[in-house]
Amino acid sequence: MIFSQYLFISSNKIEFILIYSKIVCKDSCYIMSKNELEKLRENINEVDDHILDLLAKRASIVSKIGKHKNSNKTVVDLVREEEILNRLLKKTIGNYSKDTIIRIWRELFQASSNLQMFNFSEIKTKRTIESINIYKGGQTSIKGKSNIIKLSSNENTNSPNNSILKEIKEIKFQNKLNRYPEISGLSLRKEIGNFHGIDPERIVLGCGSDEILLFAALSFCKDGDEIIHAEHGFEMYPVIAKVVGAVSKLIKEDENYKVTVKSILNQITEGTKLIFIANPNNPTGTYLNRVEIIELMNALPKNITVLLDGAYAEYVIENDFDKGFDLVEKFENLILTRTFSKVYGLAGLRIGWSYSSEKIAKILNKVKGPFNTNFFAQEIAIKVLNDQNHINNVVKLNHEIKNWFEKELNNLNLKTRVTFGNFSLIESNIKEANNIFNHLLDDGIIVRKLDSYNLPNCLRITIGTMKEMETTLESLKKYHG
Ligand SMILES: Cc1ncc(COP(=O)(O)O)c(C=O)c1O
Repeated sequence: MIFSQYLFISSNKIEFILIYSKIVCKDSCYIMSKNELEKLRENINEVDDHILDLLAKRASIVSKIGKHKNSNKTVVDLVREEEILNRLLKKTIGNYSKDTIIRIWRELFQASSNLQMFNFSEIKTKRTIESINIYKGGQTSIKGKSNIIKLSSNENTNSPNNSILKEIKEIKFQNKLNRYPEISGLSLRKEIGNFHGIDPERIVLGCGSDEILLFAALSFCKDGDEIIHAEHGFEMYPVIAKVVGAVSKLIKEDENYKVTVKSILNQITEGTKLIFIANPNNPTGTYLNRVEIIELMNALPKNITVLLDGAYAEYVIENDFDKGFDLVEKFENLILTRTFSKVYGLAGLRIGWSYSSEKIAKILNKVKGPFNTNFFAQEIAIKVLNDQNHINNVVKLNHEIKNWFEKELNNLNLKTRVTFGNFSLIESNIKEANNIFNHLLDDGIIVRKLDSYNLPNCLRITIGTMKEMETTLESLKKYHG
């Protein structure tokens, strides 16, 4: 009606209206009358009432099933839930996307398990939180022993250079304690940008790189979405997935504990939003090379974000390993993370960072709290970053000691896996892994048991100083009699 009035005004206006109507109405060129709209709304109301009836019916069946379940045991049957989802996804019709269907049904599963838990008076979290195994990290002390060698957390046993330690003592902080630090660490971001030749505006700092992993999950995942990570990947990945309400989909590694592009792609569903890949991985020590990363990124739907976690990247000297940041220019959905906790020896200060496309950096910055990294961490990170001679020495020393140590382990008939990073992986059987772990503990040496990584037959040993590794080896020799 409105259009017909305008049509009489002038030919210019007609042209304008035609263009306008094309834009506004797209192909249909049809404006709905108020009555028609009301009618459709009534239709929606009817459908919603019907959905409510169906939900009541579903709830009553769920409650009946619940009465037959053992209330002492968990009422959640994840296998059955996946079966239901797979069946529904095959039948899905209509315009709602498959990932919407997945999320709606995961919400229904959650509601159903709440129904079956009988107790309505308790504080309840989302279901994924209940199943989190709190991250314990490597053991830090041994009862009754004060002189210990700690090789359990992949820290750098070398502190920063002595000259840096001296400079740190001279940092004037007394009059800064009552002030907030730089809100997003611009000075450090500029230094990182300068050193790596990258744009400081696209660097996001985190309280450890762990925090960036969380930012990514918070940014891209809703309840019921899926995060893909390796079966034996870094322990925080499943924890972070659960924190944001997502479901972990596990990549099966090959016989060398390596994830392949194919094995990653196999886990993709309509619900996938994020992929965590530690490169190299902790604790398996394997990595995807540059060609494989490009292959993966080209094969992935662009709505899925990949976070390549480079916590140990500086330790890798292999030619096919990509230490650069240029892939971010080619792939908008790629995030690269780095940390000051490992090769830079600042684990205690909790500082890490990410580099990504401008679009993703902006998203992460929306999730990041202000002042998430502190004044000391920012100041000291700048100092260690500018001491690359020391970093190069740390990397060189790590290789020398690691190569020597692993040869000696093999001489003791202990099997080691090929790992890239600052740690060795001993593979044995569960009994021997436990025995070796306890024997080393008796001698004041803490290494990492890998039960929580579903590798109870393995031990991870961080490469410490030469002296620490010699002592560890002597203890292992004693074990072997
Ligand atoms: C693969 C991997 N990513 C991230 C981290 C966390 O590092 P940050 O200290 O920067 O939080 C670790 C720590 O062990 C790790 O092994």
